[in-house]
Amino acid sequence: MLETKPPSVTHPATRTPGTLKSLEGRADGLIPTSPASLRGTRPSSTTMVTFTLNGQSVTAPGDRTLLETADDHGIEIPRLCYMEGMRPDGNCRTCMVEIKGERVLAPSCCRYPTNGMEVTTNSARALTSQKVSIELLLSDVPETAYTRNSELDFWAKKLSIGKPRFRSRSQPAEDLSHPAMAVHLDACIQCKRCVRVRCRC
Ligand code: SF4
Ligand code: FES
Repeated sequence: MLETKPPSVTHPATRTPGTLKSLEGRADGLIPTSPASLRGTRPSSTTMVTFTLNGQSVTAPGDRTLLETADDHGIEIPRLCYMEGMRPDGNCRTCMVEIKGERVLAPSCCRYPTNGMEVTTNSARALTSQKVSIELLLSDVPETAYTRNSELDFWAKKLSIGKPRFRSRSQPAEDLSHPAMAVHLDACIQCKRCVRVRCRC
């Protein structure tokens, strides 16, 4: 059965290897900007498009992402930085899917369908990418009370990912600078949800 939202889980936990670097690169203009259709700018047109999703022909509004359209059709794709109602950012890379004719996998939370597109969410290549992203994130999460039952755990369990094979990187100390709030920075995956809702600005 489709579960678009993990039940009763805390927010994700740990940093995404490579994410910070790619964000810095974007900010510095070091990474070439891709066309809007590849980047996640929501198309203004709600025109219906017909494309193939896991071998099935699907007609969907052109302004719904691949991930949202998959949800609409009962196809589950892992996601951590995506949250309904929030601008998609493509930070965690757990939602990667394969698009026929494209050399690299695409983050389904910030790609929009076009007519004739052929999208596969569960090919060996897409699944491997989704799982490795989750495993990398897991490898940096300390096993403590405040990281258990997170969304990361939810997806790890769902995709049968056990103990990560990768060594943990050294983690930042907790931020106790605020009198009313403590932040376990070692549990942050840099999904940037908190920044996108501006609660940490
Ligand atoms: S970026 Fe913000 S919301 Fe995401 S894991 Fe870190 S503290 Fe939590
Ligand atoms: S959910 Fe798509 S990149 Fe994070």
